[in-house]
Amino acid sequence: MRRALPDALLALPHRRDAPFARLTTLGVGGICRWLFEPATEAEAQAFVRACVREGLPYRVLGGGSNLLVLGDVDTPVLRLRLGSEIRIEGCEVTASASHGHIALADKVAAAGLSGLEWAGGIPGSLGGALHMNAGAHGGEWVQVLARYRFLTPEGDLVEKVPEPGEFAYRWSWLTDGRVALSATARLTPGDPAALQAAMEVHRAQRSRSQPRSKRSAGCIFKNPPGQHAGRLIDSAGLKGFRIGDAEVSPDHANFLLNLGQATPEDFVELMETVRERVRAIHGVDLQPEVEIWTGTGEPASGGVL
Ligand code: FAD
Ligand code: EPU
Repeated sequence: MRRALPDALLALPHRRDAPFARLTTLGVGGICRWLFEPATEAEAQAFVRACVREGLPYRVLGGGSNLLVLGDVDTPVLRLRLGSEIRIEGCEVTASASHGHIALADKVAAAGLSGLEWAGGIPGSLGGALHMNAGAHGGEWVQVLARYRFLTPEGDLVEKVPEPGEFAYRWSWLTDGRVALSATARLTPGDPAALQAAMEVHRAQRSRSQPRSKRSAGCIFKNPPGQHAGRLIDSAGLKGFRIGDAEVSPDHANFLLNLGQATPEDFVELMETVRERVRAIHGVDLQPEVEIWTGTGEPASGGVL
């Protein structure tokens, strides 16, 4: 997409030429040519409406903790900057989609509300967590989600309660141009100290089993039903296997690490190799959990590997 962007878009807060290496936890990728950072829901809505009017595809970025970007991205990218206040009404807490996910779990526990203890080790934004229906330690977002606000692909603002079919394991229908704006979780009363202690137990378990000091996108493949991708990759003998500076973590085989100078191509090749070996040894076809953006055209999860 080489044409100039319309004035209605250029009037919104934006940056040019931001490297994806700094926008994602994997630390690889090309250049984000147009990064739009609305500070209000109205600006986010104006962004979507302007894109719709011009027939421009757009993408949504959160904390970049589940994203592998393969090249420069010319299509406009929306990253919400909606503020970090939370609203507590009884046992319900509402936060904007751009709220930091770990910070939200911490605030909620400190406020004496139980239900998000599992979330305290998952980086990124609330919007990304909703899109992914993020989860850990037996919890996931759909279990606590009371309602959520989002922009439709036409730019209309809708608030609704979740319905069957909208969220599943590491999947939601908040895709195809839908933009999550905020979410309300229904929680239960709890003792802040006990909640913090429960979160610490989860964090300790994580630091025993998952690499935290090197760049990654968390688990790179989804768990196949009834199985663990990490165990399958591990028993295929792939821990420590390396292409360029991309490595199968020696600690947890479903984490691929950027040891410093990895390229997107290293990760694609490593993911392909892991998939082939696991298919050959276990007869299981692993599906990527990480979202993959190609340089041009539409978001391309699934089409690359
Ligand atoms: P991004 O990576 O920015 O985006 C991911 C997808 O969400 C993209 O398709 C994007 O378009 C979409 N998206 C982002 N914001 C919005 C929005 N407002 N509206 C609509 N779509 C949006 N995940 C787990 O589930 N459990 C774990 O235990 C876990 N542990 C992790 C540990 C580490 C060390 C790391 C690096 C990652 C881990 N992850 C885990 C993966 C990741 O943190 C989650 O998937 C997270 O919820 C992604 O959020 P994000 O804001 O970073 O999304
Ligand atoms: N295992 C191995 N080798 C490995 C890794 C794991 O044998 O290299 C075995 C473990 O010994 C254990 C089993 O596999 O018996 C499960 O391991 P773990 O408890 O680490 O859970 P997981 O299924 O690998 C899932 C999520 C994680 C989440 C943890 C904790 C997926 C794909 N992964 O991992 O989420 O943090 O449970 O609840 O669902 C993510 O989604 O990015 C993510 C990190």
